[in-house]
Amino acid sequence: MIRQATVHDVPRISEIINSHAELGRMLFKSYAQLYEDLRDFAVYEKDNKVVGCVGLSIIWADMTEIRSLAVDEDYRGHGIGRRLVDWTVEEARRLQIRRIMSLTYERGFFEKFGFEVVDKDTLPLKVWSDCVRCPKREGCDEIAMVKTLWDVPMIVMPTTAPTPKGVSIPVLEYVEE
Ligand SMILES: CC(C)(COP(=O)(O)OP(=O)(O)OC[C@H]1O[C@@H](n2cnc3c(N)ncnc32)[C@H](O)[C@@H]1OP(=O)(O)O)[C@@H](O)C(=O)NCCC(=O)NCCS
Repeated sequence: MIRQATVHDVPRISEIINSHAELGRMLFKSYAQLYEDLRDFAVYEKDNKVVGCVGLSIIWADMTEIRSLAVDEDYRGHGIGRRLVDWTVEEARRLQIRRIMSLTYERGFFEKFGFEVVDKDTLPLKVWSDCVRCPKREGCDEIAMVKTLWDVPMIVMPTTAPTPKGVSIPVLEYVEE
């Protein structure tokens, strides 16, 4: 069963994510980060136990990001990863956000779901906000992949951002598909 995460799931989500973080496969998440981002998370429950999790965060009007996708080692190969990715696709569609990205080592897995490798430089700068917490930083060897939901219409991007006191700041550059 897949469902939105609750505070009760945080210790188990932390256990699953951070066991992979210790191996350098994922980014470490503190309890504080997990509580703050809890609305982004779904969990997969089997036998009354959380055995997988995924987060979908909003990057920009036309981009979401899959984060913290992991399945307990004992439960892999049974379609749970697929169900978690499907959940993110439905969630992005509900939000009417056309593209989903992932920074990953699992190229073959994401290709199964229509993700394509893209040049990291084409991603919005905001994606890199997490990198300050990553031990690899400039040495990032993850692959950037993007899936487009073709049934979600393109959004007209604002050219100027609303700012307080009449100060104008540039918006992040819009990358044509
Ligand atoms: C990647 C991961 C989430 C897959 O979870 P899973 O529950 O084993 O995946 P599923 O059983 O749903 O597999 C779905 C499909 O992907 C394939 N697949 C699974 N892992 C794969 C991999 N590493 N590479 C290529 N294909 C893979 C399966 O064979 C299956 O294909 P099929 O539908 O044609 O039979 C899991 O291995 C994991 O937690 N890895 C460690 C954390 C990680 O790297 N997360 C990604 C961070 S972005």
